[in-house]
Amino acid sequence: MVSKASAPGKLILFGEHAVVYGVPSIVCAIGKRIFATVEPAKKSSLEFDSISISSPLDGELELLKFFKRGVGLIGKEAKIRIDSQIPIGAGLGSSAAMACSFLKAASAEFGLNLGTAQIAEYALEMEKIVHGTPSGVDPAVSANGGFIEFQKGVITPLKPTNLPLIIGYTGKERSTKQTVSHVAELHREKPEMTGKIFSQIHEIVRKAKAEIQQASPDLGKIGKLMTRNHELLQKLEVSSAELDKLVGAALEAGAHGAKLTGAGGGGCMVALGGPEVSEAIKNSGGIVIESGISKEGVRDERLS
Ligand code: MEV
Repeated sequence: MVSKASAPGKLILFGEHAVVYGVPSIVCAIGKRIFATVEPAKKSSLEFDSISISSPLDGELELLKFFKRGVGLIGKEAKIRIDSQIPIGAGLGSSAAMACSFLKAASAEFGLNLGTAQIAEYALEMEKIVHGTPSGVDPAVSANGGFIEFQKGVITPLKPTNLPLIIGYTGKERSTKQTVSHVAELHREKPEMTGKIFSQIHEIVRKAKAEIQQASPDLGKIGKLMTRNHELLQKLEVSSAELDKLVGAALEAGAHGAKLTGAGGGGCMVALGGPEVSEAIKNSGGIVIESGISKEGVRDERLS
């Protein structure tokens, strides 16, 4: 038999990096997904569409080690194929979506009966191979879908809301492991400074959650909080010239707010605004990724 499943990417609206230190974050699943196909094999291997990898799982590449951990967790040898609608290494949760879709397909294929919580837990174990010390926010939202608050493994669903979100991709890949370990280094060297920044981000998340939960959220207020969150991420030294350029262009074009999203150092930013903001991002060299919030988390797919 062959089984197929998919899982969504994610967008962090508030609280990235600080979430690793126990601060809550606000995050949603997006409409772009990763698809995994799994079939039994004598020896595990990976085929990866967009970067044309086709290899047994015993190479040095992090991606191969990541899937090796996955097949170790399920205890079965498998031929895995990954097809992605999400740019890889762009801060949109591609590794969590890869892990969750693989685990869901493997669960169907081998009759493992993995529930959503178990998928998120195993996906977090796989993420540790590529991310070092992840908070677990990415697998949690990819497995569950929707719009959530995540703090120390606890998920609180938020009211679904129609925020006019625009994702701008710098086109530059980055490594979550690198930016997360940069913040850890800063935290070791200047604990008072980083501690103060984490508390300020915590306050921003608290205010943003309260506003998002209103019957008609005030976009101006939410936007200001996003921009303030970006300034604090700049102080944590995880922004980049490319991200700052796209954030600046969005704000100049009248966005309610804008910030980097995810690990930073490249990857994506997110703005709250209309078509003129999309235009400004494009004119500044950004790639606009059209995608709304997705209610659905990991799911089985039919094989076509
Ligand atoms: C990455 O999507 C989000 C970070 O906060 C890392 C993590 O929480 O694991 C940068």
